[in-house]
Amino acid sequence: MLWLNPIYPSPQRDNGYDVLDYKAIDPVFGSMEEFEQRVEEAGAAGMEIMMDMVFNHTSTAHPWFQKALVGEEKYKDFYIIREAKEDGSLPTNWPSKFGGPAWEPFGNTGCYYLHLYDVSQADLNWRNPEVRKELADVVNFWLEKGVKGFRFDVINVIGKDEILLDAEDGVGKSLYTDRPIVHEYIREMNHRTFGKKEGTLTVGEMSSTDIQNGVLYSAKEREELSMIFSFHHLKVDYKDGDKWTNTPFDFMQLKNILSEWQEGMEKGGGWNALFWNNHDQPRANNRFGDPENYPFETATLLAQTIHLLRGTPFIYQGEEIGMVDPDFEELKEYRDIESLNAYQELTTKGKTEEQALALVKKKSRDNSRTPMQWSKELHAGFTTGTPWINAGDSYQERNTTDSPISQRVYAYYQQLIRLRKELTVISKGSYKEIEPNHPEVYSYIRETEQEELLILNHFYGEKTTVRIPKRFCKKNIIWVIGNRKARSVAEEFELEAYETVALLRNKQS
Ligand code: GLC
Repeated sequence: MLWLNPIYPSPQRDNGYDVLDYKAIDPVFGSMEEFEQRVEEAGAAGMEIMMDMVFNHTSTAHPWFQKALVGEEKYKDFYIIREAKEDGSLPTNWPSKFGGPAWEPFGNTGCYYLHLYDVSQADLNWRNPEVRKELADVVNFWLEKGVKGFRFDVINVIGKDEILLDAEDGVGKSLYTDRPIVHEYIREMNHRTFGKKEGTLTVGEMSSTDIQNGVLYSAKEREELSMIFSFHHLKVDYKDGDKWTNTPFDFMQLKNILSEWQEGMEKGGGWNALFWNNHDQPRANNRFGDPENYPFETATLLAQTIHLLRGTPFIYQGEEIGMVDPDFEELKEYRDIESLNAYQELTTKGKTEEQALALVKKKSRDNSRTPMQWSKELHAGFTTGTPWINAGDSYQERNTTDSPISQRVYAYYQQLIRLRKELTVISKGSYKEIEPNHPEVYSYIRETEQEELLILNHFYGEKTTVRIPKRFCKKNIIWVIGNRKARSVAEEFELEAYETVALLRNKQS
């Protein structure tokens, strides 16, 4: 399945996540006819298209918001509009996730509208049944076009309470995240739309959710979603929970989080989406490995770590050829609204311009938004025109056409995908972590009645030794896949820098 970030008409203040028409294609991406053709072509090639449903908010340029602004009562109730408090202060003290307060004056009315994200992204009022009906229509519209997959953007923050309260911690996430009513809204959407069509697949993007809710969103009998993205494992390089900091990742925390989610979701019957990268994350190669000295090993170690877990793997464009962060030198090369706002805030709060730029360089979402690296040609062969953002420098060494490293990484991804299709122990097996206290290796066992798969993932650049369960040290063990030379395994086993290995054991033999 091919997931497309939003391709709807949009002012593009937030990479298309500010939609102004849910049922059309932005001309910069092509026409509806071309879209329909692509769906057909994909289908013929055995692939389906997944569309991004941005339903927490619309662009303020959306006709609904514009009608609300000129006073149409019907549309005013499409958004979350409140009066100032009696003392004249904002309706609540919530900050926007992109910086500044979450409230903005609603025209000249003296009221404010809620925007959990950018000021140009007004939160929709899901309590209003007409809003829910309109959005269900949107899903049905794309279903009719042959779309089989839906990714629901920040879907666990859609359910706001009727009465909005100040946040005691000054952040307030718990006041609008995973409210019980969200589950009702999602189930309703399921019943009205994708749930009626065999073979659709849905994934919810869950901002700071917990395992308990993760299970509720994705367990089959709940009739909500097929699976969820959670992000806790990608916050292990945030210092004290603050993204705009520079600190090495906490490996023990990473292992714990991955394991807790694996175990918790399995126990409750939930299902994880597995990923390191997307359009909101700097490249995992730069965060968790050493792509300079070990480009192939880093990329394949990361891939294998999650591809052999329980869940559904997602690959973000360029990951499969080992792409890395772009190495921009100036602020003017960045486009992302969150990064530009963060730069402002960081400098206002006392960071020098160099310090703020260094943090943006490390953490910006633009790190993953640079053009796909097709070749060594200008702009990485992506366009002969002017791209919306510069290509990363690495396209000379990493591209789809003539890069030995990229070719090897790509072939490895193909193997991982093939293995998942071939081995039930990967697609359906249970999960158990082993050696949880090893400071450099994340290892786990997947198991079915017939087979056991042992996976060892070494996240550091020196050699290390790991203890292998005896039953995996026998002759009939199969070295299924690894990014270093296959060799015989002993109870005290030495792993190379950034090595990853998977060993298969048939329990009957
Ligand atoms: C999601 C998207 C992100 C966007 C935000 C607001 O997190 O992935 O790119 O900025 O929602 O829509």
